[in-house]
Amino acid sequence: MDADTEVFSVIGNPVKHSLSPFMHNTAFELLSVNGVYTAFNLDDLESGIKGIRALGIKGVSVTIPHKESVINYLDKVSESALKIKAVNTITNNNGVLEGSNTDWTGFLISLREHTEIKNKKTLVIGAGGAARAVCYALNYENADLYITNRTSSKGIGLAKDFSGKFVYENDLKHLGPEIIINTTSVGMFPHIEKTPVDKNVFQNTGVAFDIVYNPVETRFLREAKSMGFKTVSGIGMFVYQGADQFKQWTGLTFPSQVMKEAVFKKLTLKEKT
Ligand code: ATR
Repeated sequence: MDADTEVFSVIGNPVKHSLSPFMHNTAFELLSVNGVYTAFNLDDLESGIKGIRALGIKGVSVTIPHKESVINYLDKVSESALKIKAVNTITNNNGVLEGSNTDWTGFLISLREHTEIKNKKTLVIGAGGAARAVCYALNYENADLYITNRTSSKGIGLAKDFSGKFVYENDLKHLGPEIIINTTSVGMFPHIEKTPVDKNVFQNTGVAFDIVYNPVETRFLREAKSMGFKTVSGIGMFVYQGADQFKQWTGLTFPSQVMKEAVFKKLTLKEKT
């Protein structure tokens, strides 16, 4: 590091367990970029954004609970982030703070590695911010979209926004989706015994995708696998959303495959300890 080192960071609360510093710093090192990526635990978002401007921080990842409210403090916001109503990436272009959403691109690139999407009967579980990013990607690919959610009013609202059909929990066993995506945090460490849907949803054959990556194999994915589904963990989505951020900040291509292995190793080593 020297006087030319550019600074990047994740802001949110909590950020202590974020893997983004590990991932971006590894990429800086591999590609010989003079940058450093830190983590700022942040409650006061307005002051935090002023800090980014004042200190000339070059790029920022935004996480819970600021992804939605940060939109109000930026100079420009991409069309996709506006529709998703969430920004996970800020790029500081000579003092102009631009917000974008790379969760949807990260999800899309990861899912595309495993299946065709167009016209596929696709079920999204959940109706929060992550679900909006996933639905945006599925609309982009012209999937046949179905949504289920614990709170039906929220699910119905999401279905309306993204031209999907809402499905009540009791009807899931008759749906027969070919792609099923869990966008909720149900099953995430330490609540690894939980799953967001009954396994009778896996009637067809197809692909089950969990945006959760800790643990790498959630109960949802384990049950999907036992019912003959191909399974995809959230590692790919996490790495590709970071790859898109990295591209916006540095113009460089992220070493995504290397990073998927590195993140996998880090997570599985952690699971063993
Ligand atoms: P994010 O922005 O990260 O997606 P969120 O907005 O809090 O987070 O959304 C979380 C989603 O997970 C919601 O769809 C939520 O369901 P409700 O709308 O009913 O709250 C869902 N969710 C969270 N915990 C859940 C649980 N224990 N069982 C079922 N769904 C759950």
